[in-house]
Amino acid sequence: MSSKEISDYYDATVDREVRSDLQQAIKLVDEPKIAIDCGCGAGRDVAYLLANGFIVHAFDIESDSILRCKKRFEGKDNVFLSRDSFNRFSYPFASLVLADASLFFCPESEFSEVWSKINKSLSPGGIFVGSFLGPNDTMANPNYRKESFWPDILVFKEVQLRPKFNSFEIINWTEHNIDGKTAQGRSHHWHIFSIIAKKI
Ligand SMILES: C[S@@+](CC[C@H](N)C(=O)[O-])C[C@H]1O[C@@H](n2cnc3c(N)ncnc32)[C@H](O)[C@@H]1O
Repeated sequence: MSSKEISDYYDATVDREVRSDLQQAIKLVDEPKIAIDCGCGAGRDVAYLLANGFIVHAFDIESDSILRCKKRFEGKDNVFLSRDSFNRFSYPFASLVLADASLFFCPESEFSEVWSKINKSLSPGGIFVGSFLGPNDTMANPNYRKESFWPDILVFKEVQLRPKFNSFEIINWTEHNIDGKTAQGRSHHWHIFSIIAKKI
């Protein structure tokens, strides 16, 4: 699975500003600062985490992503990169788990196992920061053209998502339901739940 669209997406996001949720989340993390970036893409957030003193384990299903990141972080000791999927990755202990715009593409049949692995990798006080797709998003529409990007689209209604955070204290829960543009400048309706949560 690799396409011009994916490569263009990585080009467009490689140096994009880090989202405010991640900027807020790293302030909540105690030592040791160990992060997992699930679906790291072009590595923008990996670079930010390294610059803020984290050891970073990052994975992505796309070889293009991992090749780019290997080049970008060549010679850095504190980053461990692997080409892996959400359910095959061996989640180490972490004080921060990041999944920005990536679990949107987790196969539905794998999600509960993946979520359980993410939960187990965080000890009490650990922080999850990430986003989930809501039902009004353009990508949730059955007519959405999936073939160029990742074929599985995982959608949650808020009522389905809230219970996933039963063993977390919610620090920030923001619902974005707005017209906007994709990283490549196409019109898109975004329906996204952006969440920062602390493991109890
Ligand atoms: C929209 S991009 C977001 C990338 C990055 N987190 C960011 O915010 O720029 C989604 C990423 O999830 C990865 N991805 C899709 N399905 C995956 C899977 N099953 N396992 C691991 N990564 C996956 C894609 O390859 C892609 O890099």
